[in-house]
Amino acid sequence: MTSGCDESGRAERVTIQPMTPEHLAAVLDIERISFPSAWTADSYLRELRNPNGRYFVALVGGRVTGYAGMWVVADEAHISTIAVHPDHRRRGLGTRLLRHLAAVAESLRARQITLEVRRSNLGAQALYAKMGFQPVGLRPRYYADTGEDGVLMRKALAGPPEGD
Ligand SMILES: CC(C)(COP(=O)(O)OP(=O)(O)OC[C@H]1O[C@@H](n2cnc3c(N)ncnc32)[C@H](O)[C@@H]1OP(=O)(O)O)[C@@H](O)C(=O)NCCC(=O)NCCS
Repeated sequence: MTSGCDESGRAERVTIQPMTPEHLAAVLDIERISFPSAWTADSYLRELRNPNGRYFVALVGGRVTGYAGMWVVADEAHISTIAVHPDHRRRGLGTRLLRHLAAVAESLRARQITLEVRRSNLGAQALYAKMGFQPVGLRPRYYADTGEDGVLMRKALAGPPEGD
């Protein structure tokens, strides 16, 4: 399946792969322009070593254009980050990354997937709602950098295929 276009309008192939330390320079470039408080290389290296962590990059034409990660503990998955380079937004990459996380979480027998999102981040909330997440709570002043509230969202998962 292909999606995304290069400057000439040709479709470019999108692949989702596990994140490795080699991807970090590109990941950090996207991180810095996407979040008020960016995670550092050390935070990512720690996450890549975390046995409960699952991190993926979206490559378009071989270049890192987005990434997403989660923790899976017992029957719950929790999305810890997701970002797409501003030049590649609104082309379905965020959706692809979220679908991938949900599929991996299901294969690991998670029954639900949750996340927090800034109350003002209506774009991300629209994406999550489209993907079947529902707001289930508010975490007052959850974000230490700006003091903003966090909206807790949740989606039920189907679990692994029968007989798996
Ligand atoms: C949130 C983010 C990951 C979305 O990635 P994306 O690749 O643009 O998402 P998609 O193209 O898959 O969007 C799918 C749908 O979600 C909704 N959506 C996504 N971004 C939106 C926005 N800024 N405003 C309104 N709706 C939006 C739309 O319904 C969109 O479908 P459409 O383009 O056909 O209208 C991206 O905007 C981003 O990196 N933002 C900065 C980091 C961030 O806020 N991360 C989330 C932290 S909780």
